[in-house]
Amino acid sequence: MERASFITYKIAVLSSGHSRGSNLSAMHEYWKKHNLPVQIALAVFTRADSPAFSLAKNLGIPSFVVSAKDMAGFEAEVSKLCIENNISLIALAGFLKQLSASFISSIAIPILNIHPALLPQYGGEIMYGMAVHKAVWEAGERESGATIHLVDPLYDHGTIVASQKVAIDTCQSPEDIATKVLKVEHQLYAKSIYGYLTK
Ligand code: GAR
Repeated sequence: MERASFITYKIAVLSSGHSRGSNLSAMHEYWKKHNLPVQIALAVFTRADSPAFSLAKNLGIPSFVVSAKDMAGFEAEVSKLCIENNISLIALAGFLKQLSASFISSIAIPILNIHPALLPQYGGEIMYGMAVHKAVWEAGERESGATIHLVDPLYDHGTIVASQKVAIDTCQSPEDIATKVLKVEHQLYAKSIYGYLTK
């Protein structure tokens, strides 16, 4: 008798030192809640004092610290860890370093990133953290959102995989926008990664 084959997609999450880990924990919870076969099998942080590092360890996620001061060394270590752990997709979550073109092409698995606004108009190298929400606020936008995109050698460029808008016309400050957008990020990222893996 033929047996049904069950796959668990193993993904890696990369985060920089400042990361709160809110996207990482939202993904972890979403796949568990919906009983979906996706697992964060590897989390790599650039600093041990990142709040996300302790969070990931508490969630039981295999977590490593690899310094990104030397990007070539960082990328070599991430490649090795991805191969050893059979990783089929890398998700960036609060990873603010630029990955090289040679890493992106040689790793040969998709690398997705999440951005806290609608791209391309509110993306780019200086657009991270509150700078994004301040720019959206100052432009008087009535909508913002979150965008998931494939990583490209240019910061916050790359094919858009999913995006979701949110009305911000009742927001009183850039901080209010940030709160609304973060909720959207948490709903969108896990769903989009699963969709991308199974498409
Ligand atoms: C998120 O808002 C994400 O969109 C942003 O960093 C934050 C990480 O939050 N990423 C970028 O701006 C990339 N251009 P988290 O550490 O709580 O997951």
